[in-house]
Amino acid sequence: PVQAKIGPSILNADLADLAAQSQRLLDNGADYLHLDVMDGHFVPNLTFGHSVVKCLRNKIKDAFFETHMMVSKPQQWIEPMADAGVNLYTFHVEPVQDDIESVCRKIQEAGMKVGLAIKPGTGVEAISKYLDLADVALVMTVEPGFGGQAFMADMMPKVEWLRQNYPNLDIEVDGGVGPKTIDCCAKAGANMIVSGTAVIQAPDQKEVITLLKSTVQS
Ligand code: DX5
Ligand code: ZN
Repeated sequence: PVQAKIGPSILNADLADLAAQSQRLLDNGADYLHLDVMDGHFVPNLTFGHSVVKCLRNKIKDAFFETHMMVSKPQQWIEPMADAGVNLYTFHVEPVQDDIESVCRKIQEAGMKVGLAIKPGTGVEAISKYLDLADVALVMTVEPGFGGQAFMADMMPKVEWLRQNYPNLDIEVDGGVGPKTIDCCAKAGANMIVSGTAVIQAPDQKEVITLLKSTVQS
């Protein structure tokens, strides 16, 4: 019932060449773009914000944009990201535990889809009450902050639990996912696959994207 979708993360791409790098990923079969937004506070790293996303949207009109909001105040960036042309606003629930429902509603009111993200140390019970309000559940398979880290296979029980209880939910995995780890994600029931380094550094991007997609579909 749920469709396999591959969303490359451009975090470790040449960010000075963001539009061309993104277009190349789309031409090579990416179903959406996973844009990693970091505020140097929720995670110990900085990337880019809504103004860069807006510039990217001006050059790439029709792709589906997800922003993965690794920020302490997800409420603050809802309007600017909606205005920048973001389709799916995925935020970490850890900094807004008592406010998850209202953040979800604000995202919907701004016209975007809602994604709920959990770090490796956060259990699915942190989001289970809110999944009826969400379009996507993102299970992190590394500590958020940096690309190129090792995949944490011990996160798969979370994916399995979500798939068993929510057969139609889009379940996304992010961190260390590539040809060597995709089997594990597919078996557990993930259908939205973020892959950074494995796709960006591949000599043949199309080959890797096709392989990831066919593994999840089968
Ligand atoms: C980590 C980011 C991921 C990451 C993916 O904080 O959320 O999207 O960049 O990159 P790889 O696939 O290299 O782990
Ligand atoms: Zn991410």
